[in-house]
Amino acid sequence: MPNAYISGTGFYVPPRVVTNDDLREQYGIDTTHEWIVERTGIEERRFADEGVGTAELAQYASEQAIEAAGIAKDDIGMIILASLSPDYCFPGSGVMLGQRLGLCDGDGAKFVPALDVRNQCSGFLYSLGTATSMVKSGQYKHVLVVGSETHSAALDLSTRGRTVSALFGDGAGACIVSATDEDRGVRSWYLGSDGRYAETLCQKVWDIKQRPFIPGDADGVGQVQPEMMWAKMEGRKVFKNAVIRMTESLMRVFSEQGIVRDDVDLFLFHQANLRINQYLADQIGIPPEKLVNNIMRYGNTTAATIPILMAEAERSGKLKPGMKVAMAAFGSGFTWGSAIIDW
Ligand code: ACO
Repeated sequence: MPNAYISGTGFYVPPRVVTNDDLREQYGIDTTHEWIVERTGIEERRFADEGVGTAELAQYASEQAIEAAGIAKDDIGMIILASLSPDYCFPGSGVMLGQRLGLCDGDGAKFVPALDVRNQCSGFLYSLGTATSMVKSGQYKHVLVVGSETHSAALDLSTRGRTVSALFGDGAGACIVSATDEDRGVRSWYLGSDGRYAETLCQKVWDIKQRPFIPGDADGVGQVQPEMMWAKMEGRKVFKNAVIRMTESLMRVFSEQGIVRDDVDLFLFHQANLRINQYLADQIGIPPEKLVNNIMRYGNTTAATIPILMAEAERSGKLKPGMKVAMAAFGSGFTWGSAIIDW
């Protein structure tokens, strides 16, 4: 059975920087830089311009990952795209990514499967686990895994929505999971979920149990009330569960691998809130040089946080071949996951 390793990484964030002061000055949100930094660590985030969507952000990140892996687009056997902000209700953005990458063009068109993953902040780890299994089973040699989000279009950028809208940003991160006979790659992964908390952090937009699913007027024009339209979150409950589940799932992969904290060279955590990651680092006893964060610059990009962090860490030289890497994420669902990778 081959091993599955990450052969290339890439990331893309839109060029428009939105600072905490911009939230107040441009969007009229009653907030301050100090409030946001003190509670979340976020200093700025990126917002995509109107007309740019999740498949497009995913395309730019994927092109980098493909190049870094030294493969051709045609070598991709499968696409897995994680997002809570897909371009449309359906179809998923994965098929659009395949088309954007040119996989459906010309005589040599290669109509690879495209799987969309709906596991929010844990979406990348759910996708990585799936890709690893696909590669180890021998089904595919190279799987493109992407986390991509265009949050800015669906944030309540007003004082009413400030608790949620101050947290999120747009961006995409990608990697290629490839087969190898070398003794390296994804060693363990673990995933979990607890649907009792499905409504603790959610953005409903519609309720399919209603007829019609979005109430409309006589002309069929849908009306979505603010409580359905925008994400809602019980922040403290999320915080409490995040630190418990991320710690638990890390311990799980540690024990599966027979390793301890000090065996890990680099920790790549989901970027939901700097305070969550600092709390985890204190609890587990992770020295600052082994933990990288970039939430200060990008906010929470949900499924894209870990692959962006991974690509940045590789480019800055913090993530090097031979390192043992631990990943953990937690998010809406609740869902969570962890992984150990020998880079
Ligand atoms: N600027 C200024 N004031 C604000 C803002 C803001 N951006 N947001 C909320 N407030 C106000 C509230 O309106 C409230 O005012 P009130 O007392 O007059 O009613 C006050 O600040 C306190 O609000 P809380 O929601 O209780 O603030 P809390 O201290 O819990 O901090 C936060 C909110 C930062 C979201 C915190 O709960 C948290 O970090 N939770 C973790 C959740 C998280 O990180 N989610 C990310 C997405 S999920 C994921 O990726 C795992």
